[in-house]
Amino acid sequence: MLIKYKKSYEKIAMGLLSFIPSEKDLKKMMITINEYDTEKDRTLYLWKEKEGIVGLIGILFKNNQILLQHIAINPSHRNQGFGKHLVKALKRHYPTTPILPTENTEAFLHKCNIIEDLQKDMKELMAAPN
Ligand SMILES: CC(C)(COP(=O)(O)OP(=O)(O)OC[C@H]1O[C@@H](n2cnc3c(N)ncnc32)[C@H](O)[C@@H]1OP(=O)(O)O)[C@@H](O)C(=O)NCCC(=O)NCCS
Repeated sequence: MLIKYKKSYEKIAMGLLSFIPSEKDLKKMMITINEYDTEKDRTLYLWKEKEGIVGLIGILFKNNQILLQHIAINPSHRNQGFGKHLVKALKRHYPTTPILPTENTEAFLHKCNIIEDLQKDMKELMAAPN
């Protein structure tokens, strides 16, 4: 289940963020968390399973698009489909908004077929009569 980040999840969110290579530095991570907490154009979600929170996904809204900035799964839960599941859940949550990668998330988004889906949507849109 996707749940919105709130201050009480700060520790667990920082722990998950620390697995992302670009967020290894503590100062950088504090800035990132603070931005998700305060800026209206970005949202951080956590992924909750029965056993607790196992992942996070962070997005930035820009020009009516979603930029996937951060995604991380706890190492004990990796390679079980959770990462792809989070991306699909995000897509279900924002069905009409295109999801684009950043440099850091591009390779994984390709794995999730999101970029291919987006290209297909664009082609269909271009081919549709006015
Ligand atoms: C990237 C990450 C979220 C994937 O989560 P996951 O739950 O293990 O992913 P899934 O089980 O849904 O998918 C596994 C597939 O993704 C691939 N994959 C894992 N990390 C990847 C990456 N950084 N780039 C591209 N593909 C990746 C795996 O090789 C595997 O491929 P396969 O399906 O061909 O076997 C997880 O590895 C992670 O938290 N990494 C550390 C944080 C990070 O680097 N985030 C930024 C990069 S996206």
